[in-house]
Amino acid sequence: MLTAIRGSLVWFRDDPFLTSGDDALVHVDDGLLVCRDGKISAVGDYGRLVRGLPPGVTVVHHRDKLILPGLISGHVHYVQTRIIAAYGRQLLEWLNASVYPEEERFADPSYARAVAALFCDELLRNGTTSALVNCATYPESVDALFEESVGRGMRLAAGKVLMDRNAPPELLDASPEQGYEESRKLIEKWHGVGRSLYAITPRFAVACTSEMLRVAGALWREHPGTLVQAHLAENRQEVAQVAELFPKYRDYVDVYEQHELLGPGAVFAHAVHLSKREWKRLHRTGSGVAHCPTSNLFLGSGLFSMRRATKPGRRVLVGLGSDVGGGTSLSLLQTASEAYKVGALDDCPMDGVKLFYLATLGAAKAMRLDGIIGSLEPGNEADFIVLDPAATPLLATRTARAESIDDLLFALAVMGDDRTVLATYLNGQLAHERDTFPRPEPAHRHDKR
Ligand code: GUN
Ligand code: ZN
Repeated sequence: MLTAIRGSLVWFRDDPFLTSGDDALVHVDDGLLVCRDGKISAVGDYGRLVRGLPPGVTVVHHRDKLILPGLISGHVHYVQTRIIAAYGRQLLEWLNASVYPEEERFADPSYARAVAALFCDELLRNGTTSALVNCATYPESVDALFEESVGRGMRLAAGKVLMDRNAPPELLDASPEQGYEESRKLIEKWHGVGRSLYAITPRFAVACTSEMLRVAGALWREHPGTLVQAHLAENRQEVAQVAELFPKYRDYVDVYEQHELLGPGAVFAHAVHLSKREWKRLHRTGSGVAHCPTSNLFLGSGLFSMRRATKPGRRVLVGLGSDVGGGTSLSLLQTASEAYKVGALDDCPMDGVKLFYLATLGAAKAMRLDGIIGSLEPGNEADFIVLDPAATPLLATRTARAESIDDLLFALAVMGDDRTVLATYLNGQLAHERDTFPRPEPAHRHDKR
């Protein structure tokens, strides 16, 4: 099956935090992207490549649009889709008041399935083709998400949260052994099915005993190729509680490291309140972090420092995360916009190249999936998006004045949202089209309580 798309192609060959943006960015102004059997088979200049297409192949023309790799969210909770925008609390109180009661509802497989369907559709509407996703404690909540994502052909990494203390009893794993056994069965059931990847998910050190963290480390050792995801140093009260619960450890990162949870393929969300030592350990171990600016602002958690995360000599792999429901949008364009503003406060104003890198190849590298997703290089999976620089009158006015491709990307990152995503492709196939797809149905019919 061959697909050919014409447009202005943009992707990354290198890390713009390490090299100049010019070296990192690839831009083919009038380009052609050729996909065969779900992978990118050729990419380059339209005039050169079009002549080599076999007869009968239809070229889809997006001449005045940008084509980029599908966006990748390094951290999000599908089970919090419906409690987005819960007013007025910081992390620990918000978890108890809004998050945990909602996650209890995911014991019901039909509720879980309906929210999973909405979540997957919303990701695609926002141009997000891959994500690292927290589910609820219940294995059924993981089944629901993978059933929906496999049906759509998405590459998601996800797992059941492991938690055995400091949350309502209905939501806790009965024991670390049960958490281990349920995770192991889910890995066997889902890891490698379609494009699914399993992510071992100790929620955070506040909600996990040392035994539970040990179980998570053991699962990762025993199942190479799976990912690890957890929350790290998001909120000052949380950090203080971890110090009380784990008094013998140097700091928060040390708690995870001593339980063998650091390394390539481990992605820690937030990383707002870290010491120099902790940044160094994340760097040395090749661990990744997810920068979740809309959530850090919404929950009053603090300001992530991209300057510290990317310090020369101890650079940590960073991707963006929407962190819905702490985050306020599933759009990684809106997330990038907030990342810019948080960086501006920290004397680290990121340009358009850096912002889109974080939402594509940067996140792929943090998840150890570079070479597979996050790029338009041949051999990568053919997940890509078509962005419309004239999606709204104001955006059209601004982008018409763009001085360079970097400036155009910057305007799209700062002003863009779901309206900017004209189309989303998975495996070389159209998965969402802005102007023709029906609006998603509201989920009220599932409100039984
Ligand atoms: N820390 C532990 N659980 C969560 C969660 O669900 N959301 C956020 N933002 N932080 C957490
Ligand atoms: Zn989170």
